Amino acid sequence: MTRILDAYVTLFSRNYRFMSKTTDTMEKLVSLCKRRGFIFPSSEIYGGLKSCWDYGPLGVELKRNVKEAWWHAMVRRRRDVVGIDCSIFMHPKVWETSGHLAGFNDPMVDCKLCKARFRADTIENQVCPKKPSKRPGDCEGELTEPRQFNLMFKTNMGPVENDDSVVYLRPETAQGIFVNFKNVVDTSRMKPPFGIAQQGKSFRNEIVTENFIFRSREFEQMEMEFFVPPAEADEWYVFWRDARYKWFTDLGVKPEKLRLREHDSDELAHYSKCCADVEYEFPFGWKELEGIANRTDFDLQRHAEATGRDLRFFDDQSKERYFPHVIEPALGVDRATLTFLVDAYEEEELGEGDNRTVLHLHPALAPIKAGIFPLVKKDGLPEIAHQLEDDLREYFNVFYDQSGAIGRRYRRQDEIGTPFCITVDFDTKTDQAVTIRERDKMTQERVPLDQVKAYLDERLKF
Ligand code: GAP
Repeated sequence: MTRILDAYVTLFSRNYRFMSKTTDTMEKLVSLCKRRGFIFPSSEIYGGLKSCWDYGPLGVELKRNVKEAWWHAMVRRRRDVVGIDCSIFMHPKVWETSGHLAGFNDPMVDCKLCKARFRADTIENQVCPKKPSKRPGDCEGELTEPRQFNLMFKTNMGPVENDDSVVYLRPETAQGIFVNFKNVVDTSRMKPPFGIAQQGKSFRNEIVTENFIFRSREFEQMEMEFFVPPAEADEWYVFWRDARYKWFTDLGVKPEKLRLREHDSDELAHYSKCCADVEYEFPFGWKELEGIANRTDFDLQRHAEATGRDLRFFDDQSKERYFPHVIEPALGVDRATLTFLVDAYEEEELGEGDNRTVLHLHPALAPIKAGIFPLVKKDGLPEIAHQLEDDLREYFNVFYDQSGAIGRRYRRQDEIGTPFCITVDFDTKTDQAVTIRERDKMTQERVPLDQVKAYLDERLKF
């Protein structure tokens, strides 16, 4: 077990060789994720598949909670946004029209000696995968001239493999929304300004994958296309840029680790008029977490031209027909999950030689909401604790644990971010109350058994 874990940590620390503080935090987090069942390398018993990841029992709960918090803020809580769930495979012409076939490229160079491939635009941050102690070209190999590499994964649909059966795995969820714009308008009676949101898998054949789940080849996105009258686009751009920043701070991300950065004109994607990134200061530097772009009417116009369908919106009050402009907040689920994990991670010294590792996750995101502990394994306490567990399971993901000293049970829950631990003790039999200990301040209070659900409800709100 220890050997596998060591190999695992070594695998992910290679890229951090030049940044020792980084190595420390990321190695520890990667190790915690593996040890406690948050995230495993894909197909691990076959040696792993580079840049693909599996979420374990705790990771899947955390990731679902991240997606739920986004859906709640972006769809359920708003009367002007509806959801959609499109197929991953789309008509191949979609990608021609969107510009992805021609332009979704990264510049790539090869080392002529060791045959390793690098992204030309970020080469100064990369290490040679064959010799991780060296930088690209330091192995005395000559680097080729940069050439464009298309990031879309290609496959064939149906039993015949020829050019006519080529399809692509979608590199973004956004296009499914654009091609369904008219369907949604016709069926939901939404009028600009309104949004269509989607969560789902996207695939990019990244030349370089890096930093654990930060950049991988299979990942999930949460995107919302907000369709507005052209004259309102600037105003809505500012609105969504600021709202998206606030979503992270509302979920507990430290404001000093978060910033908004407007793109320079030479950084803008082919479709966008302006774009801001929400950036987070990861242990490996400030990086893009989410992009908020003004995509203008680029996509609707192009799809209308390509299909001959009228994708303009008809305003029956002004009797005007127009292409709405689009403001797009686009976030990666895995990147958001990594951010919440990194931001929550702390090694705390409690004094007198005592210390603990704790994840200060927002209670709404925590994979387990409460640990339930009988003080001892006898005298009827496990029965009361199991009954409480069964009652709470109807509403929350809780975890029953009767092994080891209470202090050790607290530490195990602290390390995975459980915000509350509930102890059933001898007094419970007479006063029908339990002790609830809060993770961050480690305070304790006595709560009647029949009020535990209301207590948790109140504190898990987002
Ligand atoms: N529809 C616009 C779009 O896809 P993007 O900036 O390419 O924009 C949006 O992607 C977000 O998706 C990024 O900010 C990031 O959070 C996430 N993302 C993009 N590529 C990723 C990758 N290879 N691995 C993990 N997340 C990725």
